[in-house]
Amino acid sequence: MSDSCGTGADLPASAKATAGAPKLARDREASEGGQAPRRPWWLASAVALVGVVVCWTLGAGAQAQLPSEASIAAGRRIYLQKADCQACHGWAGDGEKMDSQAPDGANLRMSQLDRDQLVFVIKCGLPGRDMPAFDRLAYTDDRCLGRTRADLRRMGLELFDPGATLQSREVERLTDFLLAKVVRQGSMDRAKCIDFWGEEVDVCSEFPR
Ligand code: HEC
Repeated sequence: MSDSCGTGADLPASAKATAGAPKLARDREASEGGQAPRRPWWLASAVALVGVVVCWTLGAGAQAQLPSEASIAAGRRIYLQKADCQACHGWAGDGEKMDSQAPDGANLRMSQLDRDQLVFVIKCGLPGRDMPAFDRLAYTDDRCLGRTRADLRRMGLELFDPGATLQSREVERLTDFLLAKVVRQGSMDRAKCIDFWGEEVDVCSEFPR
């Protein structure tokens, strides 16, 4: 899954990375015979900016690159209900699990994983580490690094049972939600709590004003 526009979450970063002089080093490598093309640095930035704007426009017109509120809300429902990620990771994804009998899930708010990595971990789980694989066909074909259930058994890696399996588009919505409200969002506070739930629910009053 590679799209050159990137997701909403990483657009600013890629725009930043393209602005400024260092980017020209790449142009130089690409040019034949090692001759540096005498392109001013601002031209590279301008080209990059046009790219970003085109991505945004196309994204809005055809297939939205920036997740809509509706898809984030759908992802939240999958997180809290269908997949019950909160049992192990806590409702806020901070690792304060909701089910005391469940394994200790990672603090997803501190996770450094990018979109593709999140999708991969959700679909294929982390064998031997109590993170279930939510793709129904995980480890039946080559979609999880080419490994099968028999391979995992041979390697002595147990796969934790998921409560429910998810379809690809559900994993995409879930990942939209995680990137918008959980991953790299820092500790939960009152404002983030209200944003998370879309309204001031009881649980947000636990956080100081
Ligand atoms: C049965 C408990 C359990 C459930 C349910 C569960 N997880 Fe996990 N998850 C874990 C554990 C345990 C780890 C940490 C593995 C480790 O690092 O050793 C983990 C790790 C992860 C990671 C890797 C984080 C990182 O940066 O290393 C992601 C992402 C993740 N889980 C997402 C999810 C999502 C999304 C769901 C719901 C679809 C979910 N998990 C459901 C137990 C669970």
